[in-house]
Amino acid sequence: MCGIVGYVGKQKAAAILLEGLKRLEYRGYDSAGICVQQSNRLDVAKKVGRVENLVKEAAKQRFTGTTGIGHTRWATHGGVTDANAHPHVSCDGKIALIHNGVIENYAQMKSFLLGKGYTFQSQTDTEVLCNLIAYHLAKEPEAQNGTNRFVECVRKTLRHVEGTYGIAVLCVDYPSEMVAARKASPLILGVGDGEYILASDASALVSRTQNVVYLRDGEIVHVTPVSFAITTLDQIDVSPVVDKITWSIQDAEMGDHAHFMEKEIFEQPTALENTMRGRFSEDGSTAQFGGLNISAAEFRQVERFVFCACGTAWHACLVAEQLIERFARIPVEVDYASEFRYRNTPLDPSTLFLFLSQSGETIDTLAALREAKRKGYKALAINNVVGSTLAREADGGIYQHVGPEIGVASTKAFTSQLLLGAMFALYLGRMRDMSYSDGVRLVNALKGAPDLVRKALREAPHIREIARRYAQYRDMLFLGRLSLFPIALEGALKLKEISYIHAEGYPAAEMKHGPIALISEKCPSVIFATAGEMFPKVVSSMQEIKARKGPIIAIVTEGCELPPGIADEVITIPDCHEAVLPIVASIPVQLLSYYIAVERGCDVDKPRNLAKSVTVE
Ligand code: F6R
Repeated sequence: MCGIVGYVGKQKAAAILLEGLKRLEYRGYDSAGICVQQSNRLDVAKKVGRVENLVKEAAKQRFTGTTGIGHTRWATHGGVTDANAHPHVSCDGKIALIHNGVIENYAQMKSFLLGKGYTFQSQTDTEVLCNLIAYHLAKEPEAQNGTNRFVECVRKTLRHVEGTYGIAVLCVDYPSEMVAARKASPLILGVGDGEYILASDASALVSRTQNVVYLRDGEIVHVTPVSFAITTLDQIDVSPVVDKITWSIQDAEMGDHAHFMEKEIFEQPTALENTMRGRFSEDGSTAQFGGLNISAAEFRQVERFVFCACGTAWHACLVAEQLIERFARIPVEVDYASEFRYRNTPLDPSTLFLFLSQSGETIDTLAALREAKRKGYKALAINNVVGSTLAREADGGIYQHVGPEIGVASTKAFTSQLLLGAMFALYLGRMRDMSYSDGVRLVNALKGAPDLVRKALREAPHIREIARRYAQYRDMLFLGRLSLFPIALEGALKLKEISYIHAEGYPAAEMKHGPIALISEKCPSVIFATAGEMFPKVVSSMQEIKARKGPIIAIVTEGCELPPGIADEVITIPDCHEAVLPIVASIPVQLLSYYIAVERGCDVDKPRNLAKSVTVE
């Protein structure tokens, strides 16, 4: 949600900022802007719409400076206008600032500043911050104890702030310097060869350096062309740790694909291989994880899990719940992180928390983690982005290792979470009652997942044909049973978020309790009819739909015989172990949603109103 980039170095900043913004655009695409320090001026270009609009706007000016900041906006306070686009400049022209987050007490600060004669050009909460920094700068002209006045004014301002922020600030009086700070919005400082690049995530800086410092909440970084220094809001020095990003710029590029979503769907076999690499025991009967930081003895004391997540990651939790309850016989409760954080759920001491998040920056998931930890519970995380806030704040966890996921609609991160949920169920099961031979069978099944996904992907041309026939419907139902019910939810979410077709996911049998009223020739149902004990029951649901003239797209496992004529379309997936089935069954619904959205001419990678990482409440 909002992308931030900053540059201090020897190169012309504008081109580097624009390049970074293109890579961050998936975080917000309402407007974009840059500000470059040009000797004694702060020159700004900003424009509503995509970064390509900003590129044209910026071309009208001559940006030669080597220090600058840039921003892509996902609007919160104030409409989508040029005036509300970032960077904002203080009314005295001294301070330029970009911001990701929400300043909750901006109204009080604004009326204070209005009383002091400060003026505002926008409706944003952000503009208050730059005017407040300018106010402090004007009020305290002298440096104190050799400290940098620019940094101190930012620090002073942030002490008054309630809310969340990732900010980067320039000051006309401090050419070639940048100050940045974070609270609940991600910021990374790339340490390059004679240059520093600040960004909301690594994709914006990995083309220039793989050496990064992950800033933590409450930290302020002061960057000059030759050095950087980190302090806390309380003015305590922080020794920076420089980490290395393990992926390269090619991983964040689209290659021959039409969209990142398509690329990421087809990357899934490799992504799953990377997720499981080195994570099975030598005897081949269980999973092993390096970073859980919880002993087997402690795991044995766990009597209940609470899983929290949002959106697609929440669907992955629902599948993991079923597998853990089945293989390890430990009760699992799944909660929306946004609900958990405000409810007062009764918990007993033997509860262990697990938080799932691709980005590791979703604000509700982080708040739920903090709430669990505040109550004294241990919290684990499954997370893709290395060094994320979630990864750092959890007591232990498992990285997904699927590389950057850029498409706003999550695909490869989801199936990797499904795989890790199954591996975690195996790990816990083997600590309890699962036998060696059952463990070996499950390990072998999980190892086969990438090839089964490859096979499922071969149906893509057939699914594309189906998508052509169904792209103009207005409503769709997705139905599945047991572990395929969460995949029905996920299919419905994928379809609605990228194609804007209204879609709902239900357990197939639940249809009779309400959703059946929607069935008509105008409302198709996508229904999982896979081999197993539920097959005859799902076929009954299909009969009920057919009796009401509802079109049916059936997703069946190889060898399943449907009654003749019952399905209008049939998509076949390979038959597989129950722990792998949700992974394989995800492929056709991802492809169907993707091709329908393409057919409807939707902007698949940047669906309207959405942003990849939800860092505001
Ligand atoms: C949907 C989607 C979202 C995310 C949700 C949580 O395709 O991607 O529903 O799953 O915003 O994001 P993370 O996993 O980053 O916490």
